[in-house]
Amino acid sequence: MRNSDEKSPDEVRGITAGLTKIRNIPSPRWRGTRKPRISSLTQYRRLYRESLQKPEVFWAEQARKISWYRKWRTVSQWEPPFARWFVGGELNACVNCVDRHLEGPRRYKAAIVWEGEPQGQIRVLTYQELHREVCRLANVLLRHGVRRGDRVVIYLPMIPEALITMLACARIGAVHSVVFGGFGPGALQERILDSQARLVVTADGGYRRGAIIPLKENLDAALAELSCVQTVLVVRRTHCPIPWVEGRDYWLDQELEKVRSFHTAERMGSEDPLFILYTSGSTGKPKGVLHTTAGYLLGAMVTTEYIFDLRDEDLYWCTADVGWITGHSYVVYGPLACGGTVFVYEGAPDHPSPSRFWEMIERHRISIFYTAPTAIRAFLRWGEEWLSKSDLSSLRLLGSVGEPINPEVWMWYFEKVGGGRCPVVDTWWQTETGAIMIAPLPGVTPLKPGSATLPFFGVDAAVVDPEGNELPPGNKGRLVLRRPWPSMLRTLYQDPDAYRQIYWTPVPGCYFTGDAAYRDQDGYFWIVGRMDDVLNVSGHRLGTAEVESALVSHPAVAEAAVVGRPDPLKGQALVAFVILKEKASPTQALMEELRAHVARQIGPIAKPEEIHFTEALPKTRSGKIMRRLLKSVANRSEVRGDLSTLEDQTVLQKLAAARSEPIIGEAEPESWED
Ligand code: WT7
Repeated sequence: MRNSDEKSPDEVRGITAGLTKIRNIPSPRWRGTRKPRISSLTQYRRLYRESLQKPEVFWAEQARKISWYRKWRTVSQWEPPFARWFVGGELNACVNCVDRHLEGPRRYKAAIVWEGEPQGQIRVLTYQELHREVCRLANVLLRHGVRRGDRVVIYLPMIPEALITMLACARIGAVHSVVFGGFGPGALQERILDSQARLVVTADGGYRRGAIIPLKENLDAALAELSCVQTVLVVRRTHCPIPWVEGRDYWLDQELEKVRSFHTAERMGSEDPLFILYTSGSTGKPKGVLHTTAGYLLGAMVTTEYIFDLRDEDLYWCTADVGWITGHSYVVYGPLACGGTVFVYEGAPDHPSPSRFWEMIERHRISIFYTAPTAIRAFLRWGEEWLSKSDLSSLRLLGSVGEPINPEVWMWYFEKVGGGRCPVVDTWWQTETGAIMIAPLPGVTPLKPGSATLPFFGVDAAVVDPEGNELPPGNKGRLVLRRPWPSMLRTLYQDPDAYRQIYWTPVPGCYFTGDAAYRDQDGYFWIVGRMDDVLNVSGHRLGTAEVESALVSHPAVAEAAVVGRPDPLKGQALVAFVILKEKASPTQALMEELRAHVARQIGPIAKPEEIHFTEALPKTRSGKIMRRLLKSVANRSEVRGDLSTLEDQTVLQKLAAARSEPIIGEAEPESWED
């Protein structure tokens, strides 16, 4: 990319001229009742400057929003690349999300409003009821021998028990590791093994597009070769028959009968681990991102407060599954720490029809709606008629997360869903950052469709060259964060070397995000996408190496290479190049079998869109796969650039031949979370 004097961001991204211009959307306030938390861009800039000049003062002030058993001694300690925040402090994250709201008018306020996928299933839990359920579950965990520091894996559908279990773990000081219900036995096993969990909480299934996800079968397959798990607690959700291991498996409802409904929370240290969450990187093995208690909770809480402007009157809906970081920070910890009311939905957006989301917004009068661009693109494709039947006037704020939102899609979201009244907060962050890092403040930051706008307080974001020098506006470079922040990951679980290597060595002195970005003349950030071998499929992070090792684990496959190609709905789609073993023949049936194999190993989200059987892969003389060339083949574009390092010059013809074969699998259902 060249300087922005020559090309506007619109031109660079090839989008309709003028679409990315500034839009001032007025403050989305409840009718005259409350003062905005930040009232002007000038005030934001002043506070932002102060937060960078005197971070200790800024964060000490913010940390007063947490209920402490014992106040911290030191705001932060930084021994690069290891950070500690609020050192010496004691607190409990669950108490901050639940107990403290019982002391005032929030006691009988709804904490969770839930809808199951089958029509008519609605559950509302007040803070008082949530407290009771969390205490009972905490007691069940204790009864089964779970202690402070033990790891608990949660493999559940989006039902209140998922949130309750997370909070119960936090309450007793156990470290939760939530595994997305869409992951298959292979991915589940890998995560249980790595964290050495002693207990798993699952269900007899969950509803998805009218079908039942076989969670318990998947878990049993995952546990077949593992010895660490002693207990499995099963939530009765679908009442369908499931396999059972006597002495290991227990129905949760029966266990809950046996315990009392009060429990005194553990006093946890600020830096005690709160959870591990696995995410994809450029190696075949997922990384166990470790978050600790105080800094994480504070980050989730203050971003919810400022960026979603969450109020007691709101019904707030973040559509993410709790299996992702978005579900941790913006379904559970952030909004509940703020005393908000969260809406939770179990199922698919198009079940029984593509108007399901809009009907729920109307039914419950949802006011804040936070979702992913891939979902918005699906709605856009399904068509406006599905929205027009519902009254969406309760909405006052919209959010987007997970991948860059195309300006046209932003405008559709703003106009059709938000009725032209609701600011759209495009929030950039990562599993590793724990909380939102770059986003507008609603009603304050002038919006530009497609840009995550400006950094949050305390976030020193920059676009730099490989040496760490800041680049001028309009120049694409590495997106880095130049100083530690409270909600940052502390390490990769049991792998501090990889933590240092992956995040702190690519750019000297900085945390490297893995993303490419540029800033415009107004200092706004425009995220371009990942720079590493990580793909973003429907807002989900997948490592190409992960999918490759899943393919290679099939007996017919000798070698595999996976690349991404742009996809209008999913953002990116997976294209696999596969070399078969001598004995195997390249049939359509084998193709389908490989796709099913990947679904079992990782999950349906990782199924390659296309599989090309080939005799050779383009490699350098040192044996490194030249992904650049594969990407051109996958994109059906001209292969350009330097080919001199290519070891076998005939390989391109071989690949071109492979490309002309029938290769596309059956059409996927239109959705983003399976
Ligand atoms: C990657 C992190 C934490 C949110 C859920 C995904 C991409 C995230 C945006 C955005 C452009 C975005 C980045 C990032 N990303 N939000 N608003 N605009 N790109 O979490 O799985 O850890 O993935 O998602 O590439 O590095 P994740």
